[in-house]
Amino acid sequence: MEDFVYFGLARALHVVAVVLWIGGVAFVTTTLIPSLNKMGDTEKRWDLFERLEGRFAFQAKIVTLVTGLTGFYMLEYMQAWERYQQVQFWWLHLMTLVWLIFTLILFVLEPLVLHRRFRLMATENSDRALALLHRMHVALLALSLITVFGTVAGVHGLFVF
Ligand code: HEM
Repeated sequence: MEDFVYFGLARALHVVAVVLWIGGVAFVTTTLIPSLNKMGDTEKRWDLFERLEGRFAFQAKIVTLVTGLTGFYMLEYMQAWERYQQVQFWWLHLMTLVWLIFTLILFVLEPLVLHRRFRLMATENSDRALALLHRMHVALLALSLITVFGTVAGVHGLFVF
């Protein structure tokens, strides 16, 4: 197969992975956490959150890997690594930053620190723990959406002055 076919496939896979990933983050942020907030039983609330988010975290790990692999493959195919040295490609820096943050959270911080921390916090003050969790998700979702907006606009020439 011609190389440009692999490039097209990589780009399509990249976007599908991003849709699954950021779509999931949006669901957790705008629907799941606010619904849990309305549940009276604080113990049940955390059990439910851990079961649902735990499942999503597995899916998120896979799509994060696919996003990174396809993204770096595209950079290699286009021989575009020097874009990291050019400010007009700020959206590439943002994509890489968002990817690094999620990779760190999903593969290192969540299993080693965050899971235990939040459990402990939830037993002390469940409402505070949930509010903090919500704020963190809102920040990550906002950054991700700015990244998608900036990338699509940037790739299609909106920031070429
Ligand atoms: C290691 C991380 C990443 C790398 C190296 C990377 C790299 C790339 C590259 C090289 C392109 C094609 C650019 C072009 O055609 O000029 C692209 C497209 C795209 N990326 Fe990423 N990316 C990464 C992570 C992300 C993340 C985290 C998001 C979303 C939050 C994202 C969203 C997109 C979108 C939506 C496109 C399609 C733009 C379009 O064709 O209109 N990427 N990425």
